[in-house]
Amino acid sequence: MRKRLYLAPMFFWCGCTAVQQPAHPGYYSEEHRPQFHFSPEKMWMNDPNGMVYYEGEYHLFYQYYPDSTVWGPMHWGHAVSRDIAHWEHLPVALYPDSLGYIFSGSAVVDWDNRSGFGKDGKPPLVAIFTHHNMPGEKAGRSDFQYQSIAYSNDRGRTWTKYAGNPVIPNPGNIRDFRDPKVIWDAVSSQWVLALAAGDHVKLYGSPDLKNWTHLSDFGHDLGAHSGVWECPDLFPIEVEQDESGGDPKPPTESRQKWVLLLSINPGAPNGGSGTQYFIGDFDGKNFKVDTSLAGSLQNGHALWLDYGRDNYAGVTWSDVPASDGRRLFMGWMSNWDYAQVVPTAAWRSAMTLPRSLSLKNTPEGLRLHSTPVDELISLRGNSAKIPSGPVKGDSDWSNLTGSPAATKEILLELVWDGQRQTQTFGIELFNNKGEKVAIGFDPAKQELFIDRTKSGKTDFSPKFASRDAAPYRPEGNRLRLHVFADVSSVEVFAGDGARVMTDIFFPSESFTGLRWYGDVALTVVGGEIWELKKIRMKQARI
Ligand code: FRU
Repeated sequence: MRKRLYLAPMFFWCGCTAVQQPAHPGYYSEEHRPQFHFSPEKMWMNDPNGMVYYEGEYHLFYQYYPDSTVWGPMHWGHAVSRDIAHWEHLPVALYPDSLGYIFSGSAVVDWDNRSGFGKDGKPPLVAIFTHHNMPGEKAGRSDFQYQSIAYSNDRGRTWTKYAGNPVIPNPGNIRDFRDPKVIWDAVSSQWVLALAAGDHVKLYGSPDLKNWTHLSDFGHDLGAHSGVWECPDLFPIEVEQDESGGDPKPPTESRQKWVLLLSINPGAPNGGSGTQYFIGDFDGKNFKVDTSLAGSLQNGHALWLDYGRDNYAGVTWSDVPASDGRRLFMGWMSNWDYAQVVPTAAWRSAMTLPRSLSLKNTPEGLRLHSTPVDELISLRGNSAKIPSGPVKGDSDWSNLTGSPAATKEILLELVWDGQRQTQTFGIELFNNKGEKVAIGFDPAKQELFIDRTKSGKTDFSPKFASRDAAPYRPEGNRLRLHVFADVSSVEVFAGDGARVMTDIFFPSESFTGLRWYGDVALTVVGGEIWELKKIRMKQARI
């Protein structure tokens, strides 16, 4: 398991890689264009798909409509990265065909060529996706979604659809039957596929990725159910051992659990689209939630991966080498409540930062934590320490790093007197037009929040302006925040990833300002601000 450098030591120097010049002036510099998040060159994007690591490349496919900036006939767009930070665009990988649009799905390396699609002794990449048959839907049928596969023998550059598609036909009556995510389970020696089926997940098993047998159903009566279930991802993960405390502890046995990520729309804690998760065990047939959790996941209660409005349909990368050991995640940084009307012109939507997921013991039990990947450290530019010591009242930190920047990373650790502290406090991103986004903590309610009600352009949707909150109880009134602010988004990781919030915004002028606010006495234990560099987005060489 790789060490996450962000944890200890907390603040450190790093070398920075050179960033290549953009392809042409203005490329990726449009109003609201994210500078260090993945976004398509142009047109509509939603869910990340087919994320797989192979021969030194992280593949990112995505739901893509190349002819418009709103949702339409779905293709799989494609990009690759060698370091999961900088991206190269590639031509569209999968086009709609006579079976339908290409909806969300996954991809795996078929190392032992069980599918038989391999060539010249090399394993194929196999993509598993939903075909959505529009004429079928329009005709009022309920069997218009089914699962198909395609393979590539040239590192994902070109794909051949399997002649025997679909590989999992619709049973005939399940309208929402989609988003297959496949994993090789070495213990039961089979491919395991998780599929969203309206209000539950169906698991299937296969020896060869072509022939699938239904294994079990999960979740009819567990977790949040006020929307349709989409984009499941079932994977094993080691429980992280507690490494805190001075004395070395005797090695404890490693413990493996299975986690099921599951997106739901609507029904997220702050409205619209969101991602819940379940922790349990998988025995090759059934996924069973831990008994300690089962009780608390009834009556609509759920565990949430991210409490912000804008992290949806996220799943994890397949085939990340065991020597790396991370479970890497990326989500779509938008919300179906307003995704199609956000005020960007050339393109719509970006992905979240790549994150590493871990399972840790907490006072509430096992919980999933998310942290930004270490590779992002290479984006750090000018930096400045936030002065330690007491803070009270507002302080302007805009120029600490030398120049006000719209793209920044902030690490901050604070303590306060729990008895006397009742007012909210936090940091604000702001511009000269009086627009702002607050990232704060409410000690009375024990809640972390992002307030984007005054963030600039908000009237494109009545559902956009919001103050989004997450229950959070920092131990010992000590709050540790790790914040990434891009031109049109903020991601907040509190308590080493125990609580995460992701929100987008559209100011009429970039938020180059940064200030501390709060009329209360707190102590800054330590902190640092970095300006972040634009990532390289290489145009496809067609
Ligand atoms: C989730 C989703 C998926 C579907 C895709 C269609 O955002 O609705 O369930 O496969 O988007 O674009």
